[in-house]
Amino acid sequence: MATEAELMWVEKYRPRSLEDLADQEEVRARLEAMLKRPQEMPHLLFAGPPGTGKTTVALIVARTILGDSWKDYTLELNASDERGIDVVRERVKSFTRYVDLREGIPFKIVILDEADEMTSDAQTALRRIMEESSKVARFILTANYSSNIIEPIQSRCAVFRFVRMGEKDVVAFLERICKAEGCQYDEDALHLIYEYTQGDMRQAINQLQTAAAMGKVTLESVRQVFGIGRRSAVKDMVQLALGGDFASARKKLLELMRIYGMPEQDLLKFTFEEVMSLKDLDHAEAAKLFAEYDYRLGQGSNPEIQLSALLAELSALRKARST
Ligand SMILES: Nc1ncnc2c1ncn2[C@@H]1O[C@H](COP(=O)(O)OP(=O)(O)O)[C@@H](O)[C@H]1O
Ligand SMILES: [Mg+2]
Repeated sequence: MATEAELMWVEKYRPRSLEDLADQEEVRARLEAMLKRPQEMPHLLFAGPPGTGKTTVALIVARTILGDSWKDYTLELNASDERGIDVVRERVKSFTRYVDLREGIPFKIVILDEADEMTSDAQTALRRIMEESSKVARFILTANYSSNIIEPIQSRCAVFRFVRMGEKDVVAFLERICKAEGCQYDEDALHLIYEYTQGDMRQAINQLQTAAAMGKVTLESVRQVFGIGRRSAVKDMVQLALGGDFASARKKLLELMRIYGMPEQDLLKFTFEEVMSLKDLDHAEAAKLFAEYDYRLGQGSNPEIQLSALLAELSALRKARST
């Protein structure tokens, strides 16, 4: 049976070395220099938008430094999955307990994905864990926003900034996949995928695979793939928020931003349209709300925080009506 790695193009075409990586020139150059002397490698912090190669590069670093048996010396944790800092501490402790470092293995590597999901208390504890295990282990943290990582951790890490990938690089990468898969495509359809995904490579590849499954990758099939998925997720999110289930609504929001890579302005617009199409709601109040958040996003505020706050206000709006 085919494994997930063979079925999912994002896994199948995940770069295995720095040369395979698209774009991210600056990250690549600095890392290549650093990997020449792995013994001196500090902890690393990879910051940047979803789908730009942070986890991929963390795995490449581990593979490059640790060689064939890299998996035995690498611990992968996801900060948003693990049940709190105690679980992280226990897992890191047992991972670093035995110092069975062989020749050619300078240290073990802990990859902590989405570290900016941790509360600042948890991050303070994390910093202590990093210090306690620094003889045996190096940490690679990834985050969407480096500003959400507490200063004492930032200052102990070499920070690498990943950028949204450029149109040329994305289209070239998608084209390579199409050729490798022998799938038919129109070039303008690949540009349209880029437009929808704005430099999020994970999402671009997923959408390409879905469109390819419909036969040929054309403007038509790409439009269809995007329209259906995103609209129904926005609708769900609005329903959850108005139903007062803020936690689930926020989860949908993060899914839309991270998995679908939906730009915040689109999210705001589609949410607005969805809310305005509903009956039994104070449309004037809602319009004022959206205008306020439209303004804040335009000022460059953190979109995840602002849109979460908007969902919270929407929950309150419906509650106010029903009481
Ligand atoms: N720079 C890149 N070059 C080529 N493919 C990439 C790049 N960045 C991401 N990808 C593709 O997107 C998928 C997700 O990348 P990942 O490293 O998990 O992103 P992040 O951790 O930044 O959210 C990878 O499996 C790979 O297929
Ligand atoms: Mg990641």
